[in-house]
Order: sequence, then structure tokens, then C-alpha cells
Amino acid sequence: MKIKKALITGITGQDGSYLTEFLLLKSYEVHGIIRRASTFNTSRIDHLYQDPHLNGMRLFLHYGDLTDTGNIERLVNQIKPDEIYHLGAQSHVRVSFDMPEYTVNTDALGTLRILEAIKNSGLPIKFYNAASSEMFGFSLPPQNENTPFHPRSPYACAKVFSYYITRLYREAYGIFACNGILFNHEGPRRGPTFVTRKISRAIARIKAGIEKKIYLGNLDAKRDWGYAPEYIEAMYLILQQENPEDYVVATGESHSVKEFLEEAFKYAGLGDWQPYVEIDPRYFRPAEVEVLIGDASKSKKELGWEPKIKFQELVKIMIDADFRKLGLNPSGEGDKTLKEKFPNKWWKID
Ligand code: NAP
Ligand code: GDD
Repeated sequence: MKIKKALITGITGQDGSYLTEFLLLKSYEVHGIIRRASTFNTSRIDHLYQDPHLNGMRLFLHYGDLTDTGNIERLVNQIKPDEIYHLGAQSHVRVSFDMPEYTVNTDALGTLRILEAIKNSGLPIKFYNAASSEMFGFSLPPQNENTPFHPRSPYACAKVFSYYITRLYREAYGIFACNGILFNHEGPRRGPTFVTRKISRAIARIKAGIEKKIYLGNLDAKRDWGYAPEYIEAMYLILQQENPEDYVVATGESHSVKEFLEEAFKYAGLGDWQPYVEIDPRYFRPAEVEVLIGDASKSKKELGWEPKIKFQELVKIMIDADFRKLGLNPSGEGDKTLKEKFPNKWWKID
């Protein structure tokens, strides 16, 4: 049987690392694009590293950047993947206000560069684009595949472009190109500047006596937070359908940052969150997305995808992991949930 080849942009990110684990277990040959950095930037995939001198290795890393057209063209033509999972992006909404041009170059034009490379290659490559619930912005919840977009940040504007250019290349050139409109998904590998991880990490540091306070922005924003490994399965399923389409992936529940704080501080045994939290206006955004709640009924019906982990369980999983990272003893309810709900889990517990 022919071994399937996947190319992942953003392989060093939260989602890229889980997807690599998932595809390697599905016997794929996995190629990932990594950026040159002055320090190692592969910590999320180091446990998957394979010595290039050994026979039979199935994970290959290539230097590249989404802003470099020639590099992207060359990699697509050299690797000839069956599937491309395009996850690479400047993914921080607040940072996109500071670096709008770079964000658009990477997130919008980066997507176009890959689609052009696929088109020009003439190869029957399937393409998954990581679109985002941020595209809905101001549109009233619940948001599904038919909800109008009303982007509220340079990041979201760039993702709206990436969404439409993906659809266009599907319609104009017959490319199997799909958008996954994923709502926020988190976990122990989440970048430490996103709010959930910032909180779980700070709580562990407060417990360990390293820090006393956490500085945050808007506590009233509400998000539909799910558990990242489950969302990776949806990405894979989207590319295994008979026809290329776009899908919303979400839990259907929404909670405020304040509720996350309440749940997390309580679970960590620190009691009320108020004494530990200060508001720092630096973390406010020039325009905010107030409420996101996904309606993922299409994914449930057509992909058979449904999330097992909901808000309270997610909080516990993240706190347990950050406690463990600092050598603290977690209560373990999060770990227990993972063992019960995923007896055959494919990802490593961090
Ligand atoms: P992440 O952890 O921030 O990872 C982003 C990845 O993109 C990293 O591997 C990063 O490389 C890479 N990257 C950034 N700029 C690049 C460039 N110019 N050229 C090549 N690679 C570049 O993001 P994530 O949470 O895994 O999200 C994956 C994708 O889904 C992103 O496109 C994000 O916008 C989208 N998304 C995420 C969520 C969510 O809740 N997580 C929801 C909806 C959509 P370095 O490691 O070198 O920085
Ligand atoms: N990051 C951050 N830091 N956010 C804060 C803070 C803080 O100190 N304080 C409050 N927030 C609020 C933000 O204003 C926002 O309303 C909410 O917490 C969530 O912020 P993030 O965790 O940064 O995520 P996001 O929703 O802006 O974006 C994430 O989800 C999108 C999908 O909806 C990212 O992963 C995007 O890449 C993704 O597309």
C-alpha cells in the first residue's frame, strides 16, 4: 500500500505538534516546515524527532517561511504531498494590531502562496486551511458555516482572505481545498500568551511561590473553548470526505475569561481569583470579539465529529499539566478524565 505523505505548515505550533503525532500513528510520512530561529523552536515535537540517518524514518523537517514564495513552491514540488495541512500563521490576535502588515503577509498571502504552488504543480494535492472563528467577530452567536463574517482585527481580516481564497481555488481550479473554521482550542501545549494557558501557567507559578499576581485584559470576553487534540481529528476527517467543503468545529458552549479564572483558581485550591488578578490595559484590544459560540452541527452530521471534553474538564487538564511541569502534585481530576474518556488516546499526556 502506498504511504500517504502530509505536509504541515506550522508543525512547531500547538496544533501542528498534535497533528504530527496523529498522522504518524496513521502511518503517514510527515513533512513539516520550520522557521530558522536563533534558539531551538521544536520543543513541541522533540518527542517525535527521528534521527535522519536511520532507515524507515517518517518525519522530515524543512526550513521555510510562509512569506517566501520560492521556498514554498520548491517544497511543494519536492515533497509532492498527498495532503497539505496549512496551520502556520501569526496566530496572536493582539499582536496582529502591532504587526498588521506582517500578519497579513503571513496569514493571508501565505495561504495564497501555497494554493498557487498547488495549482502550478498540477498535483492532486488536498488542502486544509486553518480558518478561524475570529472571522465572525461581531456577528451574533451561535455562529455556523452560514454566519456572515465581521472581522475585528488584522488577524481576522487576514483569515477572511485565506478563507475566501481557499474557496476560490476550489471553485476556479477544482482543487480539493477546505476550510476548517475552528473555534478556540486549548491544552497543555497552548502558547503561554493565550489567555487560558497564561492563567493555568500563572496559577502553577503562584502555587510554587514564583509569582504573586497575574496581569490580564478584558475578563468579560466569552469564548467557545475546546480541547486541541480532538480538533486535530476534525482536520483529518475534513480531508477524508468525498467532496471538499468548509466546516465549523466547536463545543457549542461559551464561557467568559472570568469564569475560566473562577474555575481554575478553585480547582487549584487557591480559592477566590480576585486577590491574584490585576487588570493591565496593555492587554485590551483596539477592537474586541465579545462572544463566540460555535454551532458545529454540520461537523457532527457529516464528519461524525463531536467533542468529549468540555469547559470544566479542559480547565482541570490544563492546571494538572502546568502543575506537573513545575514538579507540583496536581489533584489529578484532569488526568483521570483523559484516561477515562480516551483509553486509546493517540497523543502523549504532557
Ligand atoms: P501556534 O501555536 O501559534 O502555531 C503557529 C505556527 O505557525 C508555529 O509553528 C509557527 O512557527 C508557525 N509560523 C508562524 N509564522 C510563520 C511564518 N511566517 N512562516 C512559517 N511558519 C510560521 O498556533 P496554533 O494554535 O497551533 O494554531 C494553528 C492554526 O490554526 C493557526 O493558523 C491559527 O491561526 C489557527 N487557529 C487556531 C485556533 C486555536 O484556538 N488554537 C483557532 C482557530 C484557528 P514558530 O513555532 O517558529 O513560531
Ligand atoms: N491573550 C490574552 N492575554 N487574552 C486576554 C488577556 C490576556 O492577558 N486578558 C483577557 N484576554 C481576552 C482577550 O481579549 C480575548 O477576548 C480572550 O481573552 C481570548 O484571547 P486569546 O486567548 O488571546 O485568544 P483569541 O480568542 O483572541 O484568539 C485565539 O482563538 C482564535 C479562534 O477564535 C487564537 O488562537 C487565534 O489564533 C484563533 O484564531
